Amino acid sequence: MVTAVAQRLASQRKEIDDTLAAFALSPTQLQEVKAKMRVELERGLKKDSHPTASVKMLPTYVYRTPDGTERGKYLALDLGGTNFRVLVVKIRTGMRNSVRMYNKIYAIPLEIMQGTGEELFDHIVQCISDFLDYMGMKNTRLPLGFTFSFPCNQTGIDKGDLVCWTKGFKATECEGYDVVDMLREAIKRRNEFDLDIVAIVNDTVGTMMTCAYEDPKCQIGLIAGTGSNVCYMEEMKNIEFVEGDEGQMCVNTEWGGFGANDNIEDIRTRYDREVDGGSLNPGKQRFEKMTSGMYLGEIVRRILIDLTKHGLLFRGRITERLKTKGIFETKFLSQIESDRLALLQVRSILQHLGLDSTCDDSIIVKEVCGAVSRRAAQLCGAGMAAVVDKIRENRGLDNLEITVGVDGTLYKLHPHFSTILKDTVRELAPNCKVDFILSEDGSGKGAALITAVIDKYLYAMRFSDETLRDIMARFRREMENGLGRDTNPTATVKMLPTFVRSIPDGSEKGDFIALDLGGSNFRILRVKVSHEKKQTVQMESQIYETPEDIIHGSGSRLFDHVAECLGDFMEKQKIKDKKLPIGFTFSFPCAHTKLDEAVLLTWTKRFKASGVEGMDVVKLLNKAIKKRGDYDADIMAVVNDTVGTMMTCGFDDQRCEVGIIIGTGTNACYMEELRHIDLVEGDEGRMCINTEWGAFGDDGTLEDIRTEFDREIDRGSPNPGKQLFEKMVSGMYMGELVRLILVKMAKEGLLFEGRITPELLTKGKIETKHVSAIEKSKEGLTKAEEILTRLGVEPSEDDCIAVQHVCAIVSFRSANLIAATLGAILTRLKDNKNTPRLRTTVGIDGSLYKMHPQYARRLHKTVRRLVPESDVRFLLSESGSGKGAAMVTAWASRKVHVFTIQQISILNKCAKN
Ligand code: BG6
Ligand code: BG6
Ligand code: GLC
Ligand code: GLC
Repeated sequence: MVTAVAQRLASQRKEIDDTLAAFALSPTQLQEVKAKMRVELERGLKKDSHPTASVKMLPTYVYRTPDGTERGKYLALDLGGTNFRVLVVKIRTGMRNSVRMYNKIYAIPLEIMQGTGEELFDHIVQCISDFLDYMGMKNTRLPLGFTFSFPCNQTGIDKGDLVCWTKGFKATECEGYDVVDMLREAIKRRNEFDLDIVAIVNDTVGTMMTCAYEDPKCQIGLIAGTGSNVCYMEEMKNIEFVEGDEGQMCVNTEWGGFGANDNIEDIRTRYDREVDGGSLNPGKQRFEKMTSGMYLGEIVRRILIDLTKHGLLFRGRITERLKTKGIFETKFLSQIESDRLALLQVRSILQHLGLDSTCDDSIIVKEVCGAVSRRAAQLCGAGMAAVVDKIRENRGLDNLEITVGVDGTLYKLHPHFSTILKDTVRELAPNCKVDFILSEDGSGKGAALITAVIDKYLYAMRFSDETLRDIMARFRREMENGLGRDTNPTATVKMLPTFVRSIPDGSEKGDFIALDLGGSNFRILRVKVSHEKKQTVQMESQIYETPEDIIHGSGSRLFDHVAECLGDFMEKQKIKDKKLPIGFTFSFPCAHTKLDEAVLLTWTKRFKASGVEGMDVVKLLNKAIKKRGDYDADIMAVVNDTVGTMMTCGFDDQRCEVGIIIGTGTNACYMEELRHIDLVEGDEGRMCINTEWGAFGDDGTLEDIRTEFDREIDRGSPNPGKQLFEKMVSGMYMGELVRLILVKMAKEGLLFEGRITPELLTKGKIETKHVSAIEKSKEGLTKAEEILTRLGVEPSEDDCIAVQHVCAIVSFRSANLIAATLGAILTRLKDNKNTPRLRTTVGIDGSLYKMHPQYARRLHKTVRRLVPESDVRFLLSESGSGKGAAMVTAWASRKVHVFTIQQISILNKCAKN
């Protein structure tokens, strides 16, 4: 009797062991799996074999992991895992661990998962709508990152055609279609809110990004959850079907498809085949069906049925419950296998599942679960070993240290899965030290980070008023440094005294010549100011060329050229025999000790003639004129173009006390109280200060707001490290900034389907006038198309819209930054006057301000917001700065000087001393 029972038990045991033996993989078998996976990874990457490869190796257009400088507020969707989630992710700049997330989980009912595509996307949009309401954010158009955990054929970061549904989804009319388009259309259908869909991201990629944010060594993403998949950073040159050889791109392996070419049939069991046969996608995702949460429970259930059939379990009774598909969810599998659980508790779980079990039954069930999950973990480990070895070989290393970011309920909840996985990787890839870190926040955070990586450079160009006020405060400090005797020598914003002490008072008259050098045109003018009943000004002018070789040649050649043009002008005006007083607008930073002495401190903008820096330009010009000997000249005043502009505008509006240029370069001057100007004797009255604000930031004060593009512009400029503020805002650099951003976006597949032409790569091919044209509200898009077509990039309509967007962001940033620095000057004037409300006029000139369709309006609006306690009139200088230079000259050349009251008081003071 005893022996009969013992024999029966032994034979039962053997039957169970035999059944489970098929799940035990030997080291050799695991090595084989690794080797086969490696072959499939390579096949997926190669152009020829890619179309038929079982492991698809899909490009993701994610070129790098986050570097911690990302910032912004993003919306993210996370669809395809156990939960559908809508999130808001706020990333504060420059600090890791500075991400805040708010999310809500929504159910996707089975009938929607397997209904029509339209129903599915309408449902998604309905959930977004609910979430936006819940967050009170319906009216903020946020950038959206979409984690979509299914294989997508991506042609850009925001374009992805669904290859095929996997796991539990089977909605119709989606396969082969662009998921982003479907989402956009559903948003349009709802017609309730708008979103910028910036990126579509696989969950593996989102997970890698989430983890890489914490650990820069993380270059692999693994999901062991409902599905199973891996992504990793691959060398571009190995991804044969994507253009370009430089750098890396993250590849979504879709390793779940491994086995589709029958190459792992030797290790598949009849249970695997049964599970596959009963799935939504028979024949597909064979590896996934052996390794992921959605199927492990099913394999277990099939084995249990089989064992029950053979009378080895549940007293041989196959109940309806046991016949029910999907009862063994991963969480139950994980609970049953927990070592902390007593057999009794296992029984109670089975009981809960409706499976009436004995104590022996629960032991066997636990064994079955163990065999199935162990194999899953080992298979994942073998696959991972193939991936890490590939990365190691890619990099030509003997040893590799790398981190895998992991997510998924199987990995997280199962008591042994992660340990077995790690052990297997260690055994099969002994030359790789692989760390695994758990993604705590899901892949939505990663999707937001990807969105942030893309949006980063554009985002970094948008400033809140808070930031602008901060910049305003910084500039005020710079102004104070420039004015102070002790701080001036090291100040970056030089605050140069101009020796211009008042704006025109209406008494000027005479016949003058003005030179206007340093803006986009070199102009010579004759300015006649007469004073019969009323002051009238007559002007005649001529533009002269300043060829590149002259502005980059020797200083003497430059001044010879100026003298020659002047001679020509006087000849034409028939005044060669006269010695008219000359006012010289020279639009570069000069140190004055008096009006007609101006030592060039440094060239800016395009100019770089040798032997001029450190020299008095009046002397240089006089020398050149003398050398010719055909006419005489009397240079009475040198003024900066900002000063000329202020004076020109001051002629029409006595309240004008600020002059700004937003043209090739940018700069401002304003009337400062003499008592605050330490560098000039005297305390009474005012003097115009040429701030030279273009140099703001040259000491690093603006590093936090400069972008990689600003740095690139600077590196390629004639004066690296100098005029950093000017390079962010002025016309000479704006087109180039746009071009660099477009190149970058094209490289990342965000524009022109990744097409990069030699023209697009050529410096100077996009000019500020193009930016202005593209931003025109009516014909802007047509202009964009024209301009881009000329660059050979064959833009789509979307491309044109995106380019317009880039232009707007760059020019908006410029207007905002100038609003901040001008705001600083205005608040200083207000404080100087000690008035609760400042009423003033700002004279402005420069091609950017004049030609750009939106610039002026943006600037005015922001200034009014930043300095609310002011009434500012912006007055465009219609006649250039030559007129103003003539006004200064008139003042300087007066034989009998008409002194203002303030000037008399200065003179009195001097006399006393
Ligand atoms: C979540 C991620 O944490 O894990 C999802 O946010 C991912 O993007 C999921 O799909 C995978 O795990 P599971 O077990 O939910 O499929
Ligand atoms: C002109 C002034 O109108 O504007 C010049 O007369 C000034 O003095 C110039 O330099 C600035 O604008 P831009 O765009 O020509 O550099
Ligand atoms: C499935 C999907 C894949 C996803 C994985 C994990 O394998 O095809 O895209 O990454 O599940 O969720
Ligand atoms: C540059 C020059 C400055 C000039 C400005 C506008 O910034 O340094 O002197 O005013 O350009 O032309």
